[in-house]
Amino acid sequence: MVMTGPWLLYGANGYTGELVARLAVALGHRPILAGRSADAVCSLAEELGLERRLLGLDDPSRLDEALAGMNLVLHCAGPFSRTSRPMADACLRTRTHYLDITGEVGVFEALAVRDAEARASGVMLLPGCGFEVVPSDCLALHLKNRLPGARRLALAYAGFGRLSRGTATTAIEGLGRGGLVRRGGLLAPVPSAWKTRRIDFGEGPRTAVTLPLGDLTTAWHSTHVPDIELYFAAPLGLRALARADRHLGGILGSSAVRRFLTARVCAGPPGPTEEERRRGRAFVWGEVEDGAGGRAVARLATPEGYTFTARAALAVVERVLAGQAPAGFQTPATAFGPDFVLGIPGVTRTDLGSDLEMARPPA
Ligand SMILES: NC(=O)c1ccc[n+]([C@@H]2O[C@H](COP(=O)([O-])OP(=O)(O)OC[C@H]3O[C@@H](n4cnc5c(N)ncnc54)[C@H](OP(=O)(O)O)[C@@H]3O)[C@@H](O)[C@H]2O)c1
Repeated sequence: MVMTGPWLLYGANGYTGELVARLAVALGHRPILAGRSADAVCSLAEELGLERRLLGLDDPSRLDEALAGMNLVLHCAGPFSRTSRPMADACLRTRTHYLDITGEVGVFEALAVRDAEARASGVMLLPGCGFEVVPSDCLALHLKNRLPGARRLALAYAGFGRLSRGTATTAIEGLGRGGLVRRGGLLAPVPSAWKTRRIDFGEGPRTAVTLPLGDLTTAWHSTHVPDIELYFAAPLGLRALARADRHLGGILGSSAVRRFLTARVCAGPPGPTEEERRRGRAFVWGEVEDGAGGRAVARLATPEGYTFTARAALAVVERVLAGQAPAGFQTPATAFGPDFVLGIPGVTRTDLGSDLEMARPPA
């Protein structure tokens, strides 16, 4: 694949940004590393022999300067509820393609409403280039293609393993906000951990609860299936916390509790170790139903979530550098099709019918 044009990796010194930077270099890319923490960005850039730009997100003219002449930015600085808007604004001003690795439903929604603006500028806005939402989005469109009359879609994740500080901090931001599902094409508030399902990701059934993740926006844009639920197979402790959020949302969502939890997270390790990433695996399951007895089920097995995120984000970068960047708000599947995920090393997809699923004995 021809790799042309300079590109910026913002948030390069974060846990995920650094994984992306290292893999990018191993794959022959020369991203310009950027971020607000001078020491951390400089030492990584020096080690990898890359150019760097030191800047925060609060100065539009410096952002425009940093993006001038760039083909794309891969934005890895989150929580994206705080960082996406200034970067997307700068991308639209400078006609630079915008990619990020968010999983936050509010961020997807905010970018989706800028579709016309992005089309007019010839810019692609493609949030969610990581584990959330590349596999699930591709699986959703694959299932919709198998059952074109689908009216209901359920997607589920399992096996994300240890969270990075950034992911945990982003999750803490969501505490106290309740849950969401899509009903009749619209986002609808529901209680936290509203529904529970037993789901077989390929290694026997696991208990999963509903969670308000970005697929509630992306799967809708990719499939137009009007009713969408998103599940996460969490251990008992996390499921209990999610249910507690239903009753104690006011307390868990208070700034004092958030500050306490964030301090605990920041005192811990930055993310999974290399060994944990090497051993870990993750799974995505999906089901569509048409309300008239038709049902299709499929699942994906992927490398560990952060390893997958680095590989997937760079696969997207390579598509954009090769000139495949449809203008406007895109999802991974609308931009590159449902089989895009199968090109990411370590990913397998299994199609199941309802009979196969039912025949599996309970664990
Ligand atoms: N979708 C997915 O599957 C997926 C996978 C991995 C990560 N993520 C998301 O990606 C984000 C980063 O995760 P991580 O694990 O890399 O976190 P991390 O290690 O905490 O790194 C966060 C990065 O963002 C920067 N940053 C944070 N707030 C900023 C701001 N206001 N202005 C400029 N830079 C800012 C940090 O810079 P400083 O060092 O200067 O603070 C750092 O470079 C999180 O939101 C996480 O949820 C999503």
